[in-house]
Amino acid sequence: MKHRGRRLRRSESIRRVVRETRLDASQFIWPLFVRSGTGIRTPIGSMPGVFQTSVDELLVDAAKAVEAKLGGILLFGIPDTKDHNGSAGWDAHGPVQEAVRAVKRAFPDLLVVTDVCMCEYTDHGHCGLLTTSGDVDNDATLELLAREAISHAEAGADIVAPSDMMDGRVAYIRAALDAAGFAHVPIMSYAVKYASAFYGPFREAAESSPAFGDRRSYQMDAANSAEALREARQDVVEGADILMVKPAGAYLDIIAAVKHDTGMPLAAYQVSGEYSMIKAAAERGWIDGERAMLESLLAIVRAGADLVITYFAIDAAAALRNR
Ligand code: PBG
Repeated sequence: MKHRGRRLRRSESIRRVVRETRLDASQFIWPLFVRSGTGIRTPIGSMPGVFQTSVDELLVDAAKAVEAKLGGILLFGIPDTKDHNGSAGWDAHGPVQEAVRAVKRAFPDLLVVTDVCMCEYTDHGHCGLLTTSGDVDNDATLELLAREAISHAEAGADIVAPSDMMDGRVAYIRAALDAAGFAHVPIMSYAVKYASAFYGPFREAAESSPAFGDRRSYQMDAANSAEALREARQDVVEGADILMVKPAGAYLDIIAAVKHDTGMPLAAYQVSGEYSMIKAAAERGWIDGERAMLESLLAIVRAGADLVITYFAIDAAAALRNR
């Protein structure tokens, strides 16, 4: 027998030199949920180990991110009040804006990415403005997203990440940032975002469930992959600097295809449901939580992601250190 695949699997010392994919803390972006107030650290029931925090508590997590040498953090805001057009989203003193200022002051070198979307800020929970008939009004939403992105850039965000899935928003936000003096701020676009059941727990964390209907008129149909390439190419044309595929684990084929097709820096978002499934099964003793965590992240990187947005970021960094 000439080929014996097992020869290269005999010991960890052999396996580690022929290993094709490696994980490093610098690949992980840690999503954090921020609200106003002080001393607040509220657990999210459906996401064990994930919290909504006030800015002072967020700084504790930011310090951990620095210590663990994570790639960065991604901020979501929970405003005090919501209205029809999500005006809290561009409030210079909103939770995200305050958090960005505080984190950049305390840890200037920690990469801070902000989620740009309307759904946390609108009373109806949709990612855009509504027309009188209840449709999401694509073109009218663009101006509001641009305002939100500019307010994040003004606060000091290193990267803005629009997650709304409105058409044309990357070009619109790019032009608005440039005009406001933020030509140097990159856009990480949620270019390929599917209408997914795996976002369930996030909507508790971000208090952003749509009050009626669903997001299928703007997020992609899980059945489509050619469309993913069209979306990705369009965002490149519009000026996106980093593309994102979301969710990650059930869309590894899409990650591979988008990376291959565009050659762009690519992020993949291991979303709330992916995280909570592993946590829940591990809590029940049905799987080894640490191994499942690392395997799921490895698969996402192996598929072609350069960055992984993951609620496991801090735990995964610790697990890698302890190996
Ligand atoms: C929308 C947004 C969502 C997530 C990130 N940004 C939810 C949605 O589209 O309903 C999901 C993230 C997750 O599930 O972890 N602003």
